[in-house]
Amino acid sequence: MNKIDAGQVVHSLSLGSLKIQNNMILAPLAGISNAPFRMMMREAGCGLAYTEMISANGLVCGNDKSRRYLVFHDEDRPLGVQIFGSDPAILAEAVQIADEQGADLIDINMGCPVKKVVKNGAGAALLKDPDRVERILWAVRRATRKPLTVKIRSGWSSQNINAVLIADIAEQQGADAVIVHARTAAQGFSGSADWRIIEEVKNSVGISVIGNGDVKTGDDARNMIVTTGCDGVMIGRGALGNPWIFKEALSLPDAASGDARPSLMERKKMILRHLEMESVFEGGDGAVVRFRKHLLWYTKKLRGGAAFRAKATTVSDKDSVLGEIERFFDSLEMPDRTREAFK
Ligand SMILES: Cc1cc2nc3c(=O)[nH]c(=O)nc-3n(C[C@H](O)[C@H](O)[C@H](O)COP(=O)(O)O)c2cc1C
Repeated sequence: MNKIDAGQVVHSLSLGSLKIQNNMILAPLAGISNAPFRMMMREAGCGLAYTEMISANGLVCGNDKSRRYLVFHDEDRPLGVQIFGSDPAILAEAVQIADEQGADLIDINMGCPVKKVVKNGAGAALLKDPDRVERILWAVRRATRKPLTVKIRSGWSSQNINAVLIADIAEQQGADAVIVHARTAAQGFSGSADWRIIEEVKNSVGISVIGNGDVKTGDDARNMIVTTGCDGVMIGRGALGNPWIFKEALSLPDAASGDARPSLMERKKMILRHLEMESVFEGGDGAVVRFRKHLLWYTKKLRGGAAFRAKATTVSDKDSVLGEIERFFDSLEMPDRTREAFK
């Protein structure tokens, strides 16, 4: 059912005291959404970005890795800090730490289906324990005045769809928005997202509802808002190697979405810039190794990409990988018009 006029799809969004410029949001992605990645997406227009999930226990115990996630730059705002855990008191303490470190917004992860997280009662396991959800959000709400979001799934399994109940608890406990990944925890990251649950949650609560799941193009993002009535869209895998998805999502509805596809030159510039940021912010030759996955995503659909990746992912120093990138893009730009850059 169409609820929203396509012209009203993109708008600013108030989450508690925080006003974000637009409603297209970058998802927390463990092992991926570090500062350079977030900044690339911001340049493409995303209105809000999140850290990857950070362990509440890790923060409270002063674990270096956990604390490092809280080091960020002024250009990397507004920034949501996502925390996972199962103990209300520890989560509250962790939230306070994130608040003091300057988080613009706090999110509690209630959607992660990964075994080592759910076996400790955290992430999506919380969906099976609404009383604990209530106690956690009660404690967390008192630990910070920063805007608070809760990221949930449609339910634990297809027999236990309870996003509406959990969203209702979140609202009662003072959360400013609920993010609904429209898959069950049992689905993991496969199968398709069923956006109807986003619409159901939107019809049930008064706080903002951010829809998530299977947004692969800018059109998908706009469609999610039109068909579910949600207030904003969170994009995860669709942004990998594709910051332009935010540009597409934000463009006026009558813009031909195909035109948003970057030229080869733009793609190359984006890759070089991302790699540079990765080495500046994250440092050293390790950056090149960490960047391999991005190279893979950025060149996925390009002709000759497989051969390039096979080569580029064997080198681990920056100069060598830069050389491979130059050679690859030079080969694509040969003035042979019969050769298509895209497969
Ligand atoms: C590699 C990977 C890492 C993820 N890490 C997190 C995370 O740290 N916190 C979280 O709430 N969700 C995490 N997610 C889930 C995404 O935020 C998002 O909800 C999910 O991918 C569905 O959105 P999409 O279809 O746009 O990718 C992760 C997903 C992937 C694929």
